[in-house]
Amino acid sequence: MKKSMSLVLVLALLLTAFSSVSVVGAQDTFVCPEGEADIVVAAGAVGVELELVQEQAARYMELCPNVTVTALETPDLATDRLGLYQQFWEAQSADVDLYQVDVIWAGIIAEHMVDMKEYLTQEQIDQYFPAMIAGQTIEDRLVAIPWFTDAAGLYYRTDLLEKYGLEVPTTWDELTAAAQTIQDGERAEGNTEFWGYVWQGNSYEGLTCDAHEWLVSETGETFISPDGVVNVNNPEFVAALERAAGWVGGISPDAVTTYGEEESRGVWQAGNAAFMRNWPYAYGLGNGEDSAIAGQFDYAPLPMGAVTAGACLGGWQLAVSQYSDNPDAAASVARFRTAPEEQKLRALSPQGANPTIPALYEDPDLEAANPLFARMGPILATAVARPSGVTAERYNDASTIFFSNVHSVLTGGTDAQTAVEDMELDLQDLLEELAVGV
Ligand code: GLC
Repeated sequence: MKKSMSLVLVLALLLTAFSSVSVVGAQDTFVCPEGEADIVVAAGAVGVELELVQEQAARYMELCPNVTVTALETPDLATDRLGLYQQFWEAQSADVDLYQVDVIWAGIIAEHMVDMKEYLTQEQIDQYFPAMIAGQTIEDRLVAIPWFTDAAGLYYRTDLLEKYGLEVPTTWDELTAAAQTIQDGERAEGNTEFWGYVWQGNSYEGLTCDAHEWLVSETGETFISPDGVVNVNNPEFVAALERAAGWVGGISPDAVTTYGEEESRGVWQAGNAAFMRNWPYAYGLGNGEDSAIAGQFDYAPLPMGAVTAGACLGGWQLAVSQYSDNPDAAASVARFRTAPEEQKLRALSPQGANPTIPALYEDPDLEAANPLFARMGPILATAVARPSGVTAERYNDASTIFFSNVHSVLTGGTDAQTAVEDMELDLQDLLEELAVGV
């Protein structure tokens, strides 16, 4: 009798433990939405992202055959993607149910998205990094669920550093010098297509990230402080912009001023660059079968400026449109795609997406599959957020002022001093408009 009692107790405990696991998102107990629904998810296609979304959709449909999930491919450049989304939102369109949204857009998307707190338990919300949840919480509404996080780093060719007897650069000046040495050497050996350093110089959000890194590393501050002080008109940033303009046509191709992430990765993965600034997704892909440099590169923190190494903090979330005809089904797809099991699968894929759930970083499978995870901790912990909190729904306008002025310096249209004065004035005007609620 006693024995069976204790067995019951053990079973009961096990069941409690099991059910608490299931509450936090185990897909085997996933509850499908009721009724039939067609859900369109707006998806990125950087790297193998689109294929992964399609695979996720297939897994979801196997679990919930009453829902059809279709991926809509959207532009690679974050700024172009936002432009497309805004057309849907302005029209209050039901054509897209679930959006893949950038970490900096919380203030922009808030009025168009449902509150995910209606669909997630507190226990489920507590699984995610609290800072990410806080970043996506606008006026107490959770406007998006964190899907993966990003922090940029410096990719370098291990074989070429060895060939030229160079160390991994830790400052921008060391990077410039090492890139020049390797470029000169490789060209002298006949590779006329070879470049020292590739990065993102097109006029879009990616350039905001790159230039934000130059600024933060030299001054320790972002272009607008959390309390609304503009920090661009200073000699350190002018010098950093001049240095970057000097890279164009020097250690970087002229065309770098048209490059997004994928263009830089194209040059890099073909074996035609010594260094690349990019996000973690390029790690697994660079080691893929179609890569000329598999096994010949590594990833380090970005170079230091006078103050710090300020990697840009990126990342993407999933948000359910208020204009969807089936918000319950869309939220169910969002929950499925952001749950631990699916985040783990994406982390193990060649895209190597960094989970937004701290517990997954302790998963031995992840470290075994991708050595980057073990090294991402400090890079992520010190990554610097763009000023999207203080600019809220006007973030994209602020970023556009920033990147278009930087771009004009890179392409020789404006000198660096004039550019920082212009951006300072325009950013201050924007902040004034925000303060009076325009
Ligand atoms: C990456 C980042 C995102 C950033 C974008 C810029 O996708 O995750 O936050 O805005 O790059 O190109």
